Amino acid sequence: MISPECTPWAQTGGLADAVVALARSIAQQGHDVRVFLPLYDGILEKIPLKAHEAPLTVHLGMGQSYARLWECEEEASLRFYFIEYQRYFQGRAIYADAYGDYSDNPERFVFFTRAVLDACYQLPWIPHIFHAHDWTTGLLPVYLETVERDRILGHSASVLTIHNLQHHGYAPKNILDFAGIPWHVFRSDAVEAYDQVHMLKAGLYFAQKLTTVSPRYAQEIQTPDYGHGLDSLLRFRAADLIGICNGIDTISWNPQQDSFLNHPFDALHLKGKHRLKQELYAQWGWESAIHSPCFAVVSRFCEQKGLDLLANIIQELIQHMALQIVILGQGDGPLESQFRDLAQQFPQRCHAIIGFDTPLSHRFLAASDFIIMPSRFEPCGLTQLYAMHYGSLPIVRETGGLADTVENYDEQSGNGTGFVFRDISAGALYDTIGWACSTYYDRPQHFSRMQQRAMHLDLSWDRSSRRYLDVYRWAREAKGY
Ligand code: ADP
Ligand code: GLC
Repeated sequence: MISPECTPWAQTGGLADAVVALARSIAQQGHDVRVFLPLYDGILEKIPLKAHEAPLTVHLGMGQSYARLWECEEEASLRFYFIEYQRYFQGRAIYADAYGDYSDNPERFVFFTRAVLDACYQLPWIPHIFHAHDWTTGLLPVYLETVERDRILGHSASVLTIHNLQHHGYAPKNILDFAGIPWHVFRSDAVEAYDQVHMLKAGLYFAQKLTTVSPRYAQEIQTPDYGHGLDSLLRFRAADLIGICNGIDTISWNPQQDSFLNHPFDALHLKGKHRLKQELYAQWGWESAIHSPCFAVVSRFCEQKGLDLLANIIQELIQHMALQIVILGQGDGPLESQFRDLAQQFPQRCHAIIGFDTPLSHRFLAASDFIIMPSRFEPCGLTQLYAMHYGSLPIVRETGGLADTVENYDEQSGNGTGFVFRDISAGALYDTIGWACSTYYDRPQHFSRMQQRAMHLDLSWDRSSRRYLDVYRWAREAKGY
């Protein structure tokens, strides 16, 4: 696995969780799995790592550079490797700082990609499959089909997973010289777009198999509305594109044994969940509202997540419905300020914490009754999975993985695991929150039944990782093995 993020070392969103949980699940099925990521600042302080003594020679187009390889062995069949290279990763976060994305991101991640291949030669370790994730690792399949073609790593097949098609990774075309990749790939049907190198497109063109993180998203991205300009390439590669829903790591997300929670609970013993809500409400002086439902948000703030729709209706929700709202997230500046202001304006009804806080995310999902995810698009979404596992019912827009994983409430039978709406509009979100709220108050048996149904879903990675193993086999077959 080659990825820019991996829990617990480096995370901005669900990619980090998905990579580590998939790696673990595949290793448990008897395969030798190694995960590579850059050594960002702060990683060495988290968990002790072992440094390889020999420097790692990285063979770029412009000559050689020397990096260092670090290692952490979780078990014999699952190892993590980190590429240390001061210029690109030290003193840096993953993609961006307060001023925005780093301008040398393409260079940083191309360096990382090349370093992973060189690390494989040095270890030595020749995998059957390289599994790349998103645009940052898009040149990996290109390397395998060009520079490495007649070398030993040329026997390895590649799979590229799209976690988010929105991020393309445009690089100036001379990145090819930097990478040492031959110019014959600089064609509009391969890596070129707008006279630049399009790193995601490059991977989508060259990898043997493509996957994305839900079947619905696999369909959606083949349409102009959701294709971010890549829909025709994805239609061309439709036979090789497979949608597989993410699972959740049921070890770190287990309400019975969650070290971030003061009170454990499960589907049959919900007292702990109630206590956690009491605890949270007491913290903000909301004791008298303990019978009001708690609606939570745990999210990146960006256009994708549709939280601007929520910000526009919070005042109205608070005026017309008996509910409490808790928000945890960070991202777009204007949205951060809007939520901060709303929380200041209605301290008895709304609380907002701006930042990235994993323990708190567990507490919010555990203590809440509902979680709000009005995404404009959502490749899979992990938050709604964690929420259901913790008995918090998702309110979601019908798109991507949200549509595939949340079953809409059926008022006749009382079945369902959440509340689903279709239109991207503040009105639709308002009505759906109202629907959830009235179900909570007026049909408590249905609410409990849904909570039980959600908590009993099998969301583990086992099934999905078996499907990935099929994809790996197909990728090898496509390569002629
Ligand atoms: P995405 O990857 O698009 O952000 P997902 O739902 O797949 O969406 O994954 C989001 C992950 O990031 C979840 O594990 C969620 O709990 C976590 N997360 C998002 N924002 C925060 C935050 N502010 N603090 C802690 N965890 C967060
Ligand atoms: C991306 C997507 C999210 C998905 C995650 C893990 O960040 O936005 O929907 O769950 O990757 O695959």
